[in-house]
Amino acid sequence: MAKILIQGGKPLNGSIIVSGAKNAALPIMAATLLSTEPVVLRNVPDLNDVNTMAKVLQALGVNYKKLDHGVYSFNASGAISEEAPYELVKTMRASFFVMGPLLARLKKARVPLPGGCAIGVRPVNIHLKGFEALGARVSIDGGCAVAVADRLVGNKIMLDFPSVGATENLMMAAALAEGQSVIENAAQEPEIIDLANFLNALGAKISGAGSPIIKIDGVEKLKGGEYSIIPDRIEAGTFMVLGAISGGRISVEKCEPEHQHALMNKLKEMGAEIEIDGDKVVVSAVNGLNGVEVKTLPFPGFPTDMQAQLMVAMCVANGSSFITETIFENRFMHVSELARMGANVTTHDRTAVIHGVKSLKGAPVSATDLRAGAAMVLAGLIAEGKTEISQVYHIDRGYEDLTGRLRKLGANIERIEDPETDE
Ligand code: EPZ
Repeated sequence: MAKILIQGGKPLNGSIIVSGAKNAALPIMAATLLSTEPVVLRNVPDLNDVNTMAKVLQALGVNYKKLDHGVYSFNASGAISEEAPYELVKTMRASFFVMGPLLARLKKARVPLPGGCAIGVRPVNIHLKGFEALGARVSIDGGCAVAVADRLVGNKIMLDFPSVGATENLMMAAALAEGQSVIENAAQEPEIIDLANFLNALGAKISGAGSPIIKIDGVEKLKGGEYSIIPDRIEAGTFMVLGAISGGRISVEKCEPEHQHALMNKLKEMGAEIEIDGDKVVVSAVNGLNGVEVKTLPFPGFPTDMQAQLMVAMCVANGSSFITETIFENRFMHVSELARMGANVTTHDRTAVIHGVKSLKGAPVSATDLRAGAAMVLAGLIAEGKTEISQVYHIDRGYEDLTGRLRKLGANIERIEDPETDE
């Protein structure tokens, strides 16, 4: 229905404020199921995915209310259903985060298996294996993951891969289990720490979040409370890349530089100037950029969610760059879209080789997934001429009022409703 139109090539300058982290807000919203007292969340980003999660919680029996911009109250003191609605879960795989809390609270859960998405099959086997380790009997029935337990008993859970979602789901399940659970090979992303801090604010006993070993001492129940979500490091990183390619100087504000070392180091390696001042990071690249080699890795390595955005910078850097995508099996959908703009990129399996070109040329392109869509916006902003981006609903999932905020930097960008397209 909507499209984004960009007249690119203008240097951009100014400051942009980072929203709350989508990938912290989603599991933390799911975790409100664990408490029977009121919870207030602040700095919640106004995104389609957040609205979908709120609808899933409401369908399960949680009362939620928007108190102000970015402020929501949740009350799960009433009857809670153990079954999440397929119609909603199929639109957002992060809905699967309700599985752990439902199992912890009701000792039963029936959640539709999230389908794959453009970037990969995205199984949930590590989640399910962890639930079994806590004493649940897990089966697949009618396209749903079903888990039932007489009791949830703390246990040692070794993750085959440091899955972000599995670490979060299992932390939530273990929070109310009997005794201690230890998650080994846990994901270390900042969003894991944020979830642990939120749960501890409600009375959980979790230590080691942010390290590969997380200890959870189960408690009887969680109380209510208030919590403010961390800044979105991927949104902040997207704007930092823009600062490096925009021809101007962009101040990314209300971000957490501690979450950005891998990206900032790569941008510096490419020749960008980066000044850090508290929760402000100012990025420019007055002498242009040089090619670089990147491998995506679990945190604190280079984030896969920044791969598409950095590729845009590589497309106009001097020399060649190489990206190895180790997290997802199909996360180069943006390559063919960038090629339509004159980028010189070839891929083989999980590696992309990028030869810098003088400039990109505007063209009609598609957003193939959330971060690829963000990359296409970056490409359109620096390309000569007009770029038209379709399927922008992908972008709406993870970026709040992107066109409005970019206009404030001087971008010639607008969003149009196009009744012709039937997405
Ligand atoms: C989270 O997805 C993020 N989403 C993703 O961000 C992010 O790309 C990803 O972590 C990696 O950092 C949210 O937090 C809502 P994983 P998640 O489990 O939890 C495999 C964005 O753009 N795996 O760490 O689904 C999986 O297939 C999104 O905001 C299993 O094999 O990621 C993948 O190859 C995109 N079995 C790898 O692990 C499992 O049971 C990493 O997945 C679980 C995962």
